[in-house]
Amino acid sequence: MLSRAINRFQEFLLPLTSGISATNMEVILEGATNVPVQLSDWHRDYGAGSMWDLLAVCMIARHYNPKICFEIGTGHGRTTHHLALNTSDNTKICTLDISDTDVVGCVFRGQPSARKIRKLLGNSTSFDYSEWLGRVDLVIVDGDHSYEGVQEDTRRAFELLAPGGYILWDDFAPGWPGVVKALKEHDRARSFRRIAGTKWVYYADDRNAVSESLVVQPA
Ligand SMILES: C[S@@+](CC[C@H](N)C(=O)[O-])C[C@H]1O[C@@H](n2cnc3c(N)ncnc32)[C@H](O)[C@@H]1O
Repeated sequence: MLSRAINRFQEFLLPLTSGISATNMEVILEGATNVPVQLSDWHRDYGAGSMWDLLAVCMIARHYNPKICFEIGTGHGRTTHHLALNTSDNTKICTLDISDTDVVGCVFRGQPSARKIRKLLGNSTSFDYSEWLGRVDLVIVDGDHSYEGVQEDTRRAFELLAPGGYILWDDFAPGWPGVVKALKEHDRARSFRRIAGTKWVYYADDRNAVSESLVVQPA
């Protein structure tokens, strides 16, 4: 009871203590007024976050329509499933987990969404990411929540990121002090934004998706 009250109080103070500014979904969605999202089977993992957390990632996926997504930390697969539901048919969704139990990916297993999903097994700190370096349009960091784990996964996330891509970190909340500390201390923390009303932190790469110097002009 007391620890719950303390947690609530820390959550209340987070805007003052986190060191990371908040932004609204409206800003992230660049004024879009029509973002049709699909939600399904969320009851299979209530532990993966609130409905607002889920809605936020669905809206971002639907608005930006990433071609390649890479999620560190599959868990039950609720986020993976919703990335599949809210992107184009040809979007590739890769999701990595250290564990290979039946629970991992159970939300999308056997569903049509699984067709777009490539499930990977491995430890995010030693996984061979070479196939995806610089190619991922949306990286989700939601694996090891320790300080060192988030630091390492964040380093990998930046290596994976394609020009103009996005990174989302889950669980930026007092209950996960390792996540909060690692993101607060990051060199690029000034460019990170908490998404108001959710536990997500968001980063948008400001390089153009296709560098103008690489565009071949017709002769
Ligand atoms: C919070 S759950 C992920 C929830 C999921 N992203 C979602 O939104 O539904 C965290 C997952 O990260 C995995 N994990 C923890 N440490 C890891 C590591 N070093 N490498 C890969 N996966 C890891 C755990 O096995 C667990 O399934």
